[in-house]
Amino acid sequence: MHENVIFCYSGTGNCLDLAKNIAQGLGGADIVMMRSAPAVTDVREAKRVGFVFPCYGGSAPEDVLRHAKLLQISPEAYTFAVSQSAVYPGTGLSRLNDIVPLKYWRTATHHCSCIWLFPHKLMLPLLSVEKAQKRSEALAAEIAREVLSGKQSPKKPPRNVLNVAENKVWPLISGAKVQGFKVSDACIACGQCVRLCPRKNIQLINGKVIIGSNCAQCLGCLQYCPQSAISIGKITDKREHYHNPNVAAAELMESVIHVG
Ligand SMILES: Cc1cc2nc3c(=O)[nH]c(=O)nc-3n(C[C@H](O)[C@H](O)[C@H](O)COP(=O)(O)O)c2cc1C
Repeated sequence: MHENVIFCYSGTGNCLDLAKNIAQGLGGADIVMMRSAPAVTDVREAKRVGFVFPCYGGSAPEDVLRHAKLLQISPEAYTFAVSQSAVYPGTGLSRLNDIVPLKYWRTATHHCSCIWLFPHKLMLPLLSVEKAQKRSEALAAEIAREVLSGKQSPKKPPRNVLNVAENKVWPLISGAKVQGFKVSDACIACGQCVRLCPRKNIQLINGKVIIGSNCAQCLGCLQYCPQSAISIGKITDKREHYHNPNVAAAELMESVIHVG
């Protein structure tokens, strides 16, 4: 195990791209994917332990928090986390801080992957994909420098009451939404969505894609579909699909990515 370990959750690549760039800035790291139960949970030998994850519905994806509870981290380790969102970071960092006390935390914004709610171009500040990517790379370098210097955040991560309320109603809104997945005739039964789904919620039966109800809402299946054959209602048919330009679907399926 590398002395730097980053646990990463990513549905559409923005967070994995950020984690890889932070890892590079640190001079190397093992990125342990936590979309499914992490392959490595005992990281007591690591000197620095980080987390990079998106904001979903005002908080972190529930699987981030569930999987963080499984980890064994040395009390001496320097711990840090980055929450990435389209507009606001929500309470994910604060909830993670309750499980793994964080020495340093940051927020970042990148293009919106929640296609049924907003077009992907909605991020604040508004930036083109190219500019957002450049900004993300510059931020990763800055975060890596601060992590290496052992910087401590002066305050605890924020816990905005509006985001707490939003996160309570979120399962009702988005849970209902993801029951509406449709697969069009453009599907070529390549099976990528089946392999990509972190909850094994998608099956290929007699050449037909069947999406179940245990959805993590990461939207990787929809955003990475090579045929754009997956949608959730009419609005998502009209909207341009998006995934991070530097992250291939295959990378999201890895359990540990060694950088450096
Ligand atoms: C289901 C879902 C919910 C989201 N909720 C929020 C939110 O509450 N606030 C926000 O600013 N961005 C939200 N986003 C946008 C993501 O946080 C953002 O696009 C992030 O960069 C995605 O990271 P990824 O590409 O690594 O999955 C949401 C995205 C998804 C898929």
